[in-house]
Amino acid sequence: MTSYRITLLAGDGIGPEIMAVARRLLDAVSSRHGFTLAYDDQPMGGVAIDVTGEPLPASTLEACRASDAVLLAAIGSPRYDSLPREKRPETGLLGLRAGLGLFANLRPVKIIPALIDASTLKRDVIEGVDLMVVRELTGGVYFGTPKGRVEAEGRVRAFNTMAYFDDEIDRIARVGFDLARQRGGRLCSVDKANVLDVSQLWRDRVEALHASDYPDVELSHMYVDNAAMQLVRNPRQFDVLLTSNLFGDILSDEAAMLSGSIGMLPSASLGESAPGVFEPIHGSAPDIAGQDRANPMAMVLSAAMMLRVGLKQEAAAADLEQAVDRVLAAGYRTGDLMAPGCTQVGCQVMGDQLLAALRD
Ligand code: IPM
Ligand code: MG
Repeated sequence: MTSYRITLLAGDGIGPEIMAVARRLLDAVSSRHGFTLAYDDQPMGGVAIDVTGEPLPASTLEACRASDAVLLAAIGSPRYDSLPREKRPETGLLGLRAGLGLFANLRPVKIIPALIDASTLKRDVIEGVDLMVVRELTGGVYFGTPKGRVEAEGRVRAFNTMAYFDDEIDRIARVGFDLARQRGGRLCSVDKANVLDVSQLWRDRVEALHASDYPDVELSHMYVDNAAMQLVRNPRQFDVLLTSNLFGDILSDEAAMLSGSIGMLPSASLGESAPGVFEPIHGSAPDIAGQDRANPMAMVLSAAMMLRVGLKQEAAAADLEQAVDRVLAAGYRTGDLMAPGCTQVGCQVMGDQLLAALRD
């Protein structure tokens, strides 16, 4: 029987609660589809800081490298905000991305019909939205050097560097073009080429690649400020959005809200050869941690994305997604999505319902 090694990074806040739900569902769906998953729980983020003093212990990174896929729940807590930057949970996440070479971050945003009225945007604006943010994840201003903070002549100056190499742009653009080919055939590349040199190189490379290798894909360019506006004005115009690291961070949170709740969206971070990391877009929600109030659906959909993209178990992935659809259609909602006429449940009962829907 095929067996996969999965590193589980439950992390902080609501992480352990939603991970527990995902794990129950993964067990059920794998046995139904004839493969097994061997889990390896590893500390990362605040829990790792508490135990080892480091947000990403070397042993955690090693375990991730040695696995077939990594499932991550959420990290971070205000408890660690006063630590020096290199000791914070977020630095562990950036270290994981860099350490595994996960340069491509895929964030699909699809409107779930049962949740259309949960969005703060009007139904006729968001109906039919189905887009994918392809965000560059290991370069740009997040990782550029020089960076730092200096004091000179009585003033303090802090700085980061937004920089890309041509080949870094090419490899993420290829991911965007390839995905556009599999989807609606349209790629919108986001930049700030009217102001930034780094964006002009971005645009030049995307155009060159389009001409040489992807003439069949419909390419457009959009300045990031306009893209932010267009996402709430007319999001249906987008198929694949290609962005640098910082622009994608901002636009993907905005795009997530189209779907009604950030508690519904999965993501995949992929590299050339290392195992992918699959995680919900939302954070660790420390304010509701330990209260059985978290929405586990983005976590379950991230597990589905892991099955499909990371392990090529398409049928099992589709089963998990169908279970989510069924439970929503039956009217079960966690607090973040509660609506008149629906049944409000906690994280664990939502897990029970998902499991029951999976078995039907
Ligand atoms: C994300 C998050 C991270 C990022 C933080 C937690 C470092 O916001 O995955 O979008 O900025 O990339
Ligand atoms: Mg973000």
